[in-house]
Amino acid sequence: MRTVPDFAKMKAEGRKIVSLTAYDYPTALLEQEAGIDFILVGDSIAMAVLGEETTLGVTVDMMLPHVRAVRKGAPETFVVADMPFGSYQASDERAVDSAVRLVAEGGADAVKLEGGAPMPLARTAAVIASGIPVMGHVGLLPQSVRASGGYKAVGAGQAGRVMSEARALEDAGAFAVVLESVDEGIARDVTAALSIPTIGIGAGRFTDGQILVVGDMLGMTRGFEPRFLKKYADLGAEAGRALSEYAAEVRSGAFPEARHAYAPLREPAE
Ligand code: KIV
Repeated sequence: MRTVPDFAKMKAEGRKIVSLTAYDYPTALLEQEAGIDFILVGDSIAMAVLGEETTLGVTVDMMLPHVRAVRKGAPETFVVADMPFGSYQASDERAVDSAVRLVAEGGADAVKLEGGAPMPLARTAAVIASGIPVMGHVGLLPQSVRASGGYKAVGAGQAGRVMSEARALEDAGAFAVVLESVDEGIARDVTAALSIPTIGIGAGRFTDGQILVVGDMLGMTRGFEPRFLKKYADLGAEAGRALSEYAAEVRSGAFPEARHAYAPLREPAE
């Protein structure tokens, strides 16, 4: 299994870090077999799995069964669990309690929390002081969509803020930082300025690693076509075809056949 020092080494050696989200056991199994460097159990579970419009309703209690399932499916892969909205904002103590639950009850190796303003920086430092590695997250912050006015890419006008927040997260002890939906030039400059790895999603070509939401890149998600997304499969179409074929065969009597039955009865003589 990769460790926190391995990610720093990968950056130093110019080796790209490969990451995907996962929320369940079978997907985690596949990702481990594919050699994914780390798996994020993201609070994107809200949209990817639960049909919600934002991540704001996710809780630690909701995350835990999914973190455990991913841990079981990928016992040899570094697992990061997202700290959901409300699990760290109120106090350092609350943040440490939530992070400890995700590690102790869920089996995560590290946690991720959003933002590089003073509050998330303090929480990052507090969680790290408790012995749990923290991944930062700057740029588009899905937990702050109510304040920011929506899911908007972060352009050149906010380059200074992204840079200073990423640097502050590094200073607070974060072992890596996600750059979400930021201009490629900003991501390149932040990546060059930091000694910790940057993991991009919608951040262009020059980050130290990449992450995508697994259902998006497998073509399972409907109506989500951002510029940054590459679909490596069309599993939604294939699943739809299989489901329709099953429904048609049950209705016509073509399924099940005798070979699908235990101790099948002889066909009635003609
Ligand atoms: O929750 C999530 O999936 C994330 C990624 C977009 C990085 O935070």
